[in-house]
Amino acid sequence: MNRITIAIDGFSSCGKSTLAKQLAQHLGYVYIDSGAMYRAVALFVMENGLVVDGRLDEDGLLGELDGIDIRFQHDPMTDKSATYLNGRNVEQEIRTLEVSNHVTLVSPVPEVRAKLVKLQQAFGREKGVVMDGRDIGTVVFPDAEVKLYMTARPEVRAQRRFHELRLKGSDVSFAEVEANIHQRDLDDTTRKADPLTKAADAIEIDNSDITAEQQFRKALDIVLGVLAQVGQE
Ligand code: DC
Repeated sequence: MNRITIAIDGFSSCGKSTLAKQLAQHLGYVYIDSGAMYRAVALFVMENGLVVDGRLDEDGLLGELDGIDIRFQHDPMTDKSATYLNGRNVEQEIRTLEVSNHVTLVSPVPEVRAKLVKLQQAFGREKGVVMDGRDIGTVVFPDAEVKLYMTARPEVRAQRRFHELRLKGSDVSFAEVEANIHQRDLDDTTRKADPLTKAADAIEIDNSDITAEQQFRKALDIVLGVLAQVGQE
């Protein structure tokens, strides 16, 4: 059967990764979390003294950029794929609110985006990939056969992320999570380099009032429809 590329974009905490993982597992495709790569760069600047008084030392980062190695590898402890930064498993660390708060320092830097987009395109060269992010259908894979654009009301997204962080044992407040989501929405849509926009040929799914299972069924119908078409070409 022909393999295709599935691009899933949308705001923070829209359930993109849940859907992407479900689709990848069902189809036997590879799932790539592009946000994890931006998070890994954020962790790198935090750990290497490149954030001073809340501001990014951009020249410092550009000087180090070639030496930042980000890859996804199997973690034998969890039996899942994990994000590795310069050989170290950072899967847990990159999910904290502190890293979320630093991502918007690095995600607008064009050189960072260029490096990560190139890596993402290499991951998808063989097709059979589901990738989620903000610019996947517009910049990384403009020719993706399926493009989904996920949305949900901001309060629903904040509630979901708050619940997720609390389950992981974090003591963040709802107000902090809400503020972070609001800030990232603003940064994602207003940055000059590759802002979040809906690709003209993307199909929008608002999941505010549907379950993850209903969302999966909806997306799978779309994918199977495209696969049937591609198979006939
Ligand atoms: O999907 P996420 O919340 O884990 O993404 C983390 C951050 O990375 C998010 O604030 C926006 C940024 N990002 C991006 O700029 N481009 C992407 N393709 C994916 C994420």
